[in-house]
Amino acid sequence: MEPVIAVIGATGAVGDVFLRVAAERHLKMKELRLLASARSEGKTLMYDGKPITVHEATRANLEGADIVFCSADSSVSKQWGPVVREMGGVMIDDGSAYRMDKNVPLVVPEINGDDLEWHEGIVSIPNCTTTPLVMALHAMRTVAPLKRVTAATYQAVSGTGAAAVRELNAQVEAIGAGRAIPPLEVYSQQIAMNVLPQVDDFADDDYTKEELKMRNETRKILHQEDLKFAATCVRVPVALSHSEAVHVEFDGPAPMEALKAALRVMPGLVLIEDPTQVVTPLQAANSDDAFVARLRVDPTVDHGVVFWCVTDNLRKGAATNAIQIAEELLRRNLVRRPALKR
Ligand SMILES: NC(=O)c1ccc[n+]([C@@H]2O[C@H](COP(=O)([O-])OP(=O)(O)OC[C@H]3O[C@@H](n4cnc5c(N)ncnc54)[C@H](OP(=O)(O)O)[C@@H]3O)[C@@H](O)[C@H]2O)c1
Repeated sequence: MEPVIAVIGATGAVGDVFLRVAAERHLKMKELRLLASARSEGKTLMYDGKPITVHEATRANLEGADIVFCSADSSVSKQWGPVVREMGGVMIDDGSAYRMDKNVPLVVPEINGDDLEWHEGIVSIPNCTTTPLVMALHAMRTVAPLKRVTAATYQAVSGTGAAAVRELNAQVEAIGAGRAIPPLEVYSQQIAMNVLPQVDDFADDDYTKEELKMRNETRKILHQEDLKFAATCVRVPVALSHSEAVHVEFDGPAPMEALKAALRVMPGLVLIEDPTQVVTPLQAANSDDAFVARLRVDPTVDHGVVFWCVTDNLRKGAATNAIQIAEELLRRNLVRRPALKR
């Protein structure tokens, strides 16, 4: 099948990378429609060396689309998800609107591609901090069951969108030129030369929504509701790639050599074998892989390890994962299934 593909949010940070990754991977399509808000109507974006005019996301512009990638905010996903489903297409949603919906698979193809079999017209991709973490955990749980996970994140500003990258750049430029920091628009505090130990709003239990997303999404993807999990999510003045320091406790012996062997064969993951070799956000940028480094024993528990994990949040954290889901849906003939219950 050569699908008609539409991208809602084509002008955004994820949309930009989506267009590059789709061209690199020669994503099968017979037509590509680039959609955004009314503000972008008539703009031109390049796809694989060819200009395409951007149009407003409307019902008419979605008519006949087989696969719709949505990378805007939750209200946009909620507006168009039911419409795409009703028109018989499938929406692959980058946002958080449907991730925890029990009728919506939340998928990292290397882990739970089989969950695509029960989609009903909407598939979600995880938060950009969840994806690399679950890839490492999925490999490790082949050695011993997971008991408890704690993580601290160091998240790039591109995770907030294109406007946040502009804000960091403007602040860095102002500091370099000895000027006052321009008025804040995206974050509530200066991000350059600073770290913000709050990502997203606070929830009722004093965790932030980002921290709860990591916990809930990890449990859903791994099909392990009883996994003990706590995270602290932090925004850092880095443009691209999210990093995480992760502690994992196992429910039984997990020999280091067996863990390394499991990580080595995990598709999409690169293990840096030498525990004294580091990998930084800049080194992970523009790669589709999740990198695991500094793997070492956690001596504070009976069976546990600590590691560092870095991933390009706009690639495997967003666009690449979404495109891999489309490839998997096409491979399994799950786009426009006639018997699909909707
Ligand atoms: N950045 C990441 O690392 C990352 C990772 C995973 C998931 N996500 C998710 O991906 C989504 C997009 O993130 P982003 O970083 O690309 O944000 P962004 O740079 O702010 O881009 C937002 C996009 O949404 C479009 N949009 C806004 N309102 C719209 C409307 N009413 N109808 C149609 N399109 C509309 C914008 O179009 P205009 O240009 O016309 O305003 C723009 O193309 C978010 O849900 C985010 O949570 C992001």
